Amino acid sequence: MLQYISIKGGAEPVDFETAILDGFAADGGLYVPQSLPQVSLAQLKQWKNLSYVELAFEVLSLFIDRSSVSELELKTILQDAYAPFEKQEIIPLHPLKSRSDTFIMELFHGPTISFKDIGLAFLVNLVNFFLARKNQRLSLIVATTGETGPATAYFCAGKSQLDAWVLYPKELITKEQERQMTCLAHPNIHPFAVSNCPRGGDDLDALISKLYADNDFKSQLKLSSVNSINWGRVMMQTVHYFYGYLQVVDTLGEKINVSVPSGGFGNLCAGALAREMGLPIKTLVAANNKNACLDRIFSRGLFSKQALQSTPSSAIDILIPINFWRYLYFKIGADSTLIKTWMDEFETTGSIQFESHIFEKYSAGFLSYSATDEQTLALIKSIYETEQYLLDPHAAVSLAAADTLKEQLGNEKLICLATAHPAKFPKVIQQALADDVLPDQAMHDSIEQAKKLSEKLHLCEYDVVESALRQAMLSNWQFTHGSDKTDQEKSS
Ligand SMILES: Cc1ncc(COP(=O)(O)O)c(C=O)c1O
Repeated sequence: MLQYISIKGGAEPVDFETAILDGFAADGGLYVPQSLPQVSLAQLKQWKNLSYVELAFEVLSLFIDRSSVSELELKTILQDAYAPFEKQEIIPLHPLKSRSDTFIMELFHGPTISFKDIGLAFLVNLVNFFLARKNQRLSLIVATTGETGPATAYFCAGKSQLDAWVLYPKELITKEQERQMTCLAHPNIHPFAVSNCPRGGDDLDALISKLYADNDFKSQLKLSSVNSINWGRVMMQTVHYFYGYLQVVDTLGEKINVSVPSGGFGNLCAGALAREMGLPIKTLVAANNKNACLDRIFSRGLFSKQALQSTPSSAIDILIPINFWRYLYFKIGADSTLIKTWMDEFETTGSIQFESHIFEKYSAGFLSYSATDEQTLALIKSIYETEQYLLDPHAAVSLAAADTLKEQLGNEKLICLATAHPAKFPKVIQQALADDVLPDQAMHDSIEQAKKLSEKLHLCEYDVVESALRQAMLSNWQFTHGSDKTDQEKSS
């Protein structure tokens, strides 16, 4: 049976279901499969003409034991998860006219129009499936820089076994993103707007880790997370690398480059693991904005926290790329003692300078770049003017990085990931195009509809969020779970 282990090495191996339902391992480490499955060219050939959902079934089957989720169950979970997506292809690839062999992978056609829908559509359905099978409830808690929150809220809304607690830094996300969380009229969705977070979403991630480490609190209510600390997210995100590769190559085995707008390294970790599994990717580009957390790691071997800066690509205003540890674990020969030492050191000092032999091991096959705000805005404008295609600020960061690194990347086909719909960032688009009138491509029905709905949220300052949250979670748990009944049972 495929087992899942903590990269810190201090917890017992667990099965797939436990890894998904627990989120973090008991020692505070991240779960990974004990070994990475390998994919051959012959297998890629068999997958060449599969639809996105069919391909997802094949790739995920490499990580999931049939005893845990049967073939039929996995197919049903996947079909349900991607049914609300607006494009039949799920993630279409758009060829750019102004650059040869360059494709924008549109990951924003899910219900909350960001790439977080890709991982969360599947993961939330899977979690609910496991819980329903055991007749248990769970409190999910996530922190968001603007995209994970809406997707978690959407997919959890009305789910019989789940409550979703969604924390966001009030001033640092767009009103459009906020409304996607606060306008859902479902009693199991609890948005928490937190004002004055000094380090934005990273402060809220730290709060979640603290609640996790509090066994007393956890024993009073069942707690888990679907942030990208959850293996299910990373695993699901490997699929779009396989899909994109199979869509753009002429010959199987030919190598491609992929540029990824990055913050927490969840998406890029998935791409890096897909390459470790055998997918022919030559270079992965860690595309940052000026917060540069990954650019420091991949250009200088420096993993460090710095002051948060607001940028037009606000969803990647992130300081700690937590999933980097997952990737590093595989690159240093699964040495959990080293990973634990570094994670502990980072916790206490906020900075690690990797030695050159370690840097060489993990940075091979990566390039990185930090796009400036000016570059991001100028690129949105120039692509719109030259080919009437509107990039969101995050896609613009990934293309800006690829443009800048063009010579080092070479002539292979290039996929740039577009992780959000421009309709979520109207002010940035107006600024970039220097026009108050938004083009049609910057509008989306779901955003317009949400403007007509009323909002429901908890509002509090950062310095009191912990106590407010604990209290709200406990009283909600007692209310929904006190009689040991599910919502369904209560309403029947
Ligand atoms: C729109 C958007 N793009 C890119 C990212 C970066 O993804 P990751 O944190 O997995 O690096 C995020 C993460 O929040 C996002 O919301």
